[in-house]
Amino acid sequence: MAVIIDGKATAAAINAETKVMVESLTRRFRAPGLAVVLVGDDPASQVYVRNKVRTCGELGIRSELHRLDREATEAEVLALISRLNSDELIDGILVQSPPPKHIDEGRIIAAIDPEKDVDCFCERNVGRLLIGEREGFMPCTPWGIMELLRHYEIEVSGKHAVVIGRSNIVGKPMATLLMRKAAGANATVTVVHSGTPDITRFTRDADILIAAIGKPEFVRGSMIKPGAVVIDVGINRIEDPAGGKGRLVGDVCFAEAERIASAITPVPGGVGPMTIAGLMRNACLAALWHLER
Ligand code: GUN
Repeated sequence: MAVIIDGKATAAAINAETKVMVESLTRRFRAPGLAVVLVGDDPASQVYVRNKVRTCGELGIRSELHRLDREATEAEVLALISRLNSDELIDGILVQSPPPKHIDEGRIIAAIDPEKDVDCFCERNVGRLLIGEREGFMPCTPWGIMELLRHYEIEVSGKHAVVIGRSNIVGKPMATLLMRKAAGANATVTVVHSGTPDITRFTRDADILIAAIGKPEFVRGSMIKPGAVVIDVGINRIEDPAGGKGRLVGDVCFAEAERIASAITPVPGGVGPMTIAGLMRNACLAALWHLER
């Protein structure tokens, strides 16, 4: 049976380090300030945003939640971002994705001051990441996954890592971090996606398999190489036919995978808390760089 990779405990350890950084900054400067923008009422986004704001409180980061109606116009969101960009007490700005359909997410991301782009979504920060700069924001979820691999002393260098999914939030930056010429990275990376005819052909060769496609239990046991490390980024709510609350499942069929993998992240309690730990760290770094500017 696989080792269960405990994202909750690992995130708690990282958050404890971040808290020390926050306390030091608060003494020398002021508390880091994070603005979280939520447009609309997507139930999953509401839960994520609540967890982010709560963790800020636990770490001493000052957070502001800006909730906009689902009918809010793009111009209204842009006006809010413009205000937050020039707010001296705000170090980081996060607009929860996805926004409602009538809003162009690209324009929203482009409007955020790159110095405040704690998601690492904007052109400048993604470009720096791709070039391999060590300074600057790290994308929260992929950074969190690299930290999990490091904490569990999972060898990455020389391994074949297969990423399922090519999103800007996870798939692309994940592949970028895994292939970096750096300690704890240096993997050979394959990215498979909805246009890949035979995904299993690749996943069965993966030493490290990262599932980020947003399809409940897409990865079955038969798609995993025995002894592989499986990282499940998915958070999918399965409805209860009896009308109950339903349950959360990942992009991996956990019951099958845990019999085949050597280590696996659970859902919930795997990657999710690490994303928040990455965000808290970025908010803290944003304040530090703000102080040093
Ligand atoms: N939606 C899902 N994950 C994320 C994230 O890491 N950042 C933002 N802004 N939106 C998300």
